[in-house]
Amino acid sequence: MTPFRIAAISGSLRKASFNTAALRAAQEVAPDDIEIEIVTLEGIPLYDDDLRATGSPAAVTRLCATIASADAVLIATPEYNYSIPGVLKNAIDWVSRAEPQPFKEKAVAIMGASPGAIGTARAQYDLRKVFVYLDVHVLNKPEVMIGGAASRFDADGRLIDEATRKFIASQLAALQAWAHRLRQ
Ligand code: FNR
Repeated sequence: MTPFRIAAISGSLRKASFNTAALRAAQEVAPDDIEIEIVTLEGIPLYDDDLRATGSPAAVTRLCATIASADAVLIATPEYNYSIPGVLKNAIDWVSRAEPQPFKEKAVAIMGASPGAIGTARAQYDLRKVFVYLDVHVLNKPEVMIGGAASRFDADGRLIDEATRKFIASQLAALQAWAHRLRQ
């Protein structure tokens, strides 16, 4: 059976990132027919249209290829100052200028983790707005907003909260179903 392939992008570069850890949890709870590759945004330069005019930087080319070849994309976004971290927005800005467009017809789901109470809700809604411009088909529900992250992950970054693990599993199933619907 061909697996359903998800490109999972973490909006944090930090080694001990809760958001990257949430994507590792997604790998753990995924059923056998779902394969999740975690993509790093390391090495992506600041967007500069003059730089783009000279050719796509290698890290951007790699990110575009990973998105384009995946069946769906899962983004885990931190919340910085009530919005999307610059690292993630910058990466999306690069991808948005690529031709052919890697996000075209792609099913995308959003999650996020924060030590704060509302688990990146504000950043997630800002990210949804960005994807309106790109005409990306973002999954509506279930929303995965992991608040109080410090107590839901252990010291090794493993998601130990069973309810959150189930939420993530249900989002993966919904993303798979959403991608199949978009293909019809
Ligand atoms: C934050 N943090 C934060 N948290 C939040 O819930 N709402 C916010 O607006 C902000 N703003 C903010 C700005 C900046 C510049 C930093 C560095 C941090 C805290 C943030 O949620 C926390 O650092 C997370 O751990 C970041 O995600 P990762 O790196 O753990 O994935």
